[in-house]
Amino acid sequence: MTNKYKYFVANWKMYGDKKSVNSLNKVIKISKISKFKRAKIIYCPPYTILGDFIKKLKNTNIKVGAQNCHFIDGEGPYTGFVSSKMIKQIGSQYVIVGHSEQRESGDTDIKINKKILSSLNNNLNVIFCVGENLKQKKKNLTKKILSYQIKKGLNKVKNYNKILIAYEPIWSIGTGRILSERELFKNIESIKLILKNVKKHIQFKILYGGSVNDKNIKFLSKIKNIDGFLIGGASQKPNKFIDIIKKSYI
Ligand code: PGA
Repeated sequence: MTNKYKYFVANWKMYGDKKSVNSLNKVIKISKISKFKRAKIIYCPPYTILGDFIKKLKNTNIKVGAQNCHFIDGEGPYTGFVSSKMIKQIGSQYVIVGHSEQRESGDTDIKINKKILSSLNNNLNVIFCVGENLKQKKKNLTKKILSYQIKKGLNKVKNYNKILIAYEPIWSIGTGRILSERELFKNIESIKLILKNVKKHIQFKILYGGSVNDKNIKFLSKIKNIDGFLIGGASQKPNKFIDIIKKSYI
């Protein structure tokens, strides 16, 4: 590969505790090596340790993001929720929006659009997840689904420069199954085309997510139109995460 900038987003889901910050030491060390300066590393831990990660990663080039936000901008009587304004205030720079695990618990495309708009309004970078489920894939609906999700999600968006698209086929998340090189390349090209129709002059960054690990990263890194990875399970183990980063730059 390549000496292009690549994103490595660590989505920790509902894992991690205060002691987890210690696991960042090794990754901080790697991020300082000149060969890996082009790796844009973003940690997205649960809310409970977001502050600890922000503190630990201050003065490094590793960024921190939240895994979700409420669709209402600001404050309100919404028990159990956190707004993008709060996420920004605590010092996050990123937020994941539209993850399939959130879509599953009630996120509609309209809500996702509101979340994106409120996040941008609070000057957060958005990692916007899209992807088809297995049924849709089998019915050859992938392109249609991606187009629908992207158009709805980006409705009324003005600041496209703060959006990263994460293509995550739902059936691939946590299953160990990934698309063939040809299919993956093709689906990313479809996303690019959809985005071109939305906003012609922006060069969107497109990440891939779904069962990325230290074994398949070499294969995935060869796919030229991928700008980085959204990594769940394998990002929680520092050695695996480091391996993923290292192998992406070989
Ligand atoms: P996975 O998760 O790497 O464990 O498949 C990816 C994600 O859900 O973002």
